[in-house]
Amino acid sequence: MNELAGKHIVLGLTGGIACYKAAELCRALIKEGATVQVVMTAAAQQFITPVTLQALSGRTVYDSQWDARPVNGVGNNMPHINLSREADAILIAPCSADFMAKLLHGRADDLLSLLCLARPLDKVALLIAPAMNREMWAHPATQRNVARLRADGATVFEVGSGDQACGETGDGRMLEPQELLEEVIAFFQPKTLTGQQVLVTAGPTYEAIDPVRGITNLSSGKMGFAIARAAREAGAAVTLVAGPVSLATPRGVRRIDVRSARDMLQAVQEHAPAATVFIATAAVADWRPASAAEQKIKKDGSGKTPELSFVENPDILATLAQSPRGRSRALYCVGFAAESHDLLAHTQAKRQRKEVPLLVGNIGPATFGQDDNALLLVDELGATELARASKLSLARQLIANIANRIGARG
Ligand code: C5P
Repeated sequence: MNELAGKHIVLGLTGGIACYKAAELCRALIKEGATVQVVMTAAAQQFITPVTLQALSGRTVYDSQWDARPVNGVGNNMPHINLSREADAILIAPCSADFMAKLLHGRADDLLSLLCLARPLDKVALLIAPAMNREMWAHPATQRNVARLRADGATVFEVGSGDQACGETGDGRMLEPQELLEEVIAFFQPKTLTGQQVLVTAGPTYEAIDPVRGITNLSSGKMGFAIARAAREAGAAVTLVAGPVSLATPRGVRRIDVRSARDMLQAVQEHAPAATVFIATAAVADWRPASAAEQKIKKDGSGKTPELSFVENPDILATLAQSPRGRSRALYCVGFAAESHDLLAHTQAKRQRKEVPLLVGNIGPATFGQDDNALLLVDELGATELARASKLSLARQLIANIANRIGARG
């Protein structure tokens, strides 16, 4: 929480049924610490009233370029200048097809389009959340407009897919408020990994004993999911190979669900050739039952217990770190060590044994399932501590650290 502290956002609403979601978005932005100034077009006011947005934002809603009220004490009757100068971003949600066409041509016959045209391009970002019927979205004119708006420097978010208010089903829905919030937070993160392809493993593995039983561990996957999110926020294309966890996939991350260590290795090997960074956070089971019974092992009442024997699982991290691309650091490998004591010594030893350039130590029992953690980054030069913080905050610091290192690589 407070991901948007200090940010001032002009939230623009244009005509569309998704205006009802903008009310919740406004609230969500404020909950994250942003200040929000709402501007509405006349069409937007057919769907939701300024009263609702004023109550939620705590500020007068503006809707006319002729509004003579002073803005922040400036009474020059130029709301299009005054409202845009204080903003970090103008977020148009929902943005109708018509409004995108208008923006594209630099038209400015209402306050919101005027504001967008008048904004200082280098200081005030333009973020667009399209919302429309699927045919309108798929129309070549709209797709052309999206491409041109992006070329002009706007960030046009994806659309959602599903049931539409018109009764049709397809692409064109505005993203949900929480999804948009995640996109806005991501937008403000430094783009230190642009152009990189990051592969992450996360969560536990599950090793079957029989069709209904298995061996697993208490890894929640939270750290790995936070790292995948942070890497994507930093501009990387991210693939997340996840063991059995019930966490939501971070936005914009490609997720591959696997169960056993061998499934995980296979998925990782499939995606490693395209990757430039590999971050292994998964708590992979060290051993698996030598053979999984095809049918449920039955208790026969004799008191006899089943004999289980184990074989060692492949070490996914070591396999990649010791591959030619791992050794040359074309694939920069990062591992984790969950220890219960002597963190520095164990982490250093593991780094050398697995031949990984960067190994991140943490105290296992203090992190499993928790929302915060503390990390110890160990490389060939020594150790750096990242103090206890939320897993997302630590993930961002780790990503910045990795970005520095791969910057130094080339
Ligand atoms: O050997 P240990 O399990 O302590 O090593 C932890 C690190 O190695 C983590 O980065 C983990 O994801 C990775 N690992 C792996 N495959 C294994 C065991 C561990 O990738 N079979």
